[in-house]
This record gives sequence, structure tokens and C-alpha cells, in this order.
Amino acid sequence: MFISLEGIDGCGKSTQARLLAEALRARGREVVLTREPGGAPGAEAIRRLLVEGAPDRWSPETEALLFTAARRDHLERTVEPALARGATVVTDRFADSTRVYQGATRGDLRAFVDALHDLAIAREPDRTLVLDLDPAAAHARAAGRGGAEDRFEEFGLAFQQALRTGFLRLAETAPARVRVVDAAGDADAVHARVMAAL
Ligand code: TYD
Repeated sequence: MFISLEGIDGCGKSTQARLLAEALRARGREVVLTREPGGAPGAEAIRRLLVEGAPDRWSPETEALLFTAARRDHLERTVEPALARGATVVTDRFADSTRVYQGATRGDLRAFVDALHDLAIAREPDRTLVLDLDPAAAHARAAGRGGAEDRFEEFGLAFQQALRTGFLRLAETAPARVRVVDAAGDADAVHARVMAAL
């Protein structure tokens, strides 16, 4: 099974991806825990181009191409081999992040993103969990973390609000695949909701 976790910056995806992987391993599954952008050596090199530097370093189109290139590498080198040998893949972000983030950066980019996806990726996770959290609460979590990977968080609270709306809309358009999970509260409480949703 191929599972993705999605949501705005600071919603707790990485913690929940780890807890989910541990819970599935405890049930005897082989689990590959991975992330985007990244998840394979080439994709991690592309990640550094994306997450560091000034917010206007790339045009929205170039950025969508880079995310898609990283995803293709991640899919070829990590996701598909794991699924082929029967492992469960848990990924911290996948194609929905490009739809929502790059779609929110510039609304008319969605057709470009969808065409790229059809051409280069053409697959969806079996299940996607959107961790839904108020941007102010998410900001408080992300601020406590620090680090150089702040290019996307620098877009601000209004941008995060647009992202939240984007993820909720996306969940409505793909109800068979996507579930929304309330990400407020402590990690154990959210983990219980994740397991119930799955
Ligand atoms: P991520 O590693 O999830 O950041 P964090 O661990 O801080 O939550 O992703 C880095 C940034 O890249 C994040 O702000 C979301 C953004 N992003 C996109 O804009 N498009 C994409 O397709 C992906 C995968 C991520």
C-alpha cells in the first residue's frame, strides 16, 4: 500500500508519518518511510535547490518542473521498488503538494501542473491523509523548529491559509482516496485519528 500525508507547513506530517510507520511495522509490515521533495539521492539534491534561497529564486513554472523531476526520481528509485517487493510506503508529501502549493502560488498554474503529472508521474497514492490545522497553530510549531529550509514558510500566514483551503478542496474532489484528519492536539491524539482514518 502506498500512503501519503499532506498538509500545510508545521501541521505535524513528519511526526505523524514516523508514528504511522512505527505502528504498521509493529503489525509486521515492511515499511519504507520517505519524503518529498527528496526520498532518493537525486531527488534530495533537487530538494536543496528548492528549499534554500530567496522566495523568488525560481519562476512558478520552473519550480513545478523541479518538484516533478524530484518526484519522478523518488518514484523510480524508492517508491516503485518498495511497492514491487510488497512493502508499504509512507511518504511525507506527494503530488497533492504540487497541486496545492504551486496551484496556490498562481491559480492558472494548475493545468500546467496536471499536464506535467500526467506525463511524468501518472500515479496516485492508494490513500492520502490531509492533516488539517489552523495556520496560526501550525506557525507556532514550525517556528520552534528553525533551520535553513525556510523558503516556503516565508510566504506568510495568508499563504498558509490559502494552502489549507486548497487541501480541503482537494479532499472534496477525491473522496475515495483522501481523508481529512484533525491535526490539533498532541501527537498521540492525532496518531489515533490517523489510524482510525486509515
Ligand atoms: P517539506 O519537506 O514537507 O517541509 P517541512 O518538513 O518543513 O514541512 O517541504 C518543503 C517545502 O516544499 C514545503 O513548504 C512544501 C513545499 N512543497 C511544494 O511547494 N510543492 C511540492 O510539490 C512539495 C513536495 C513540497
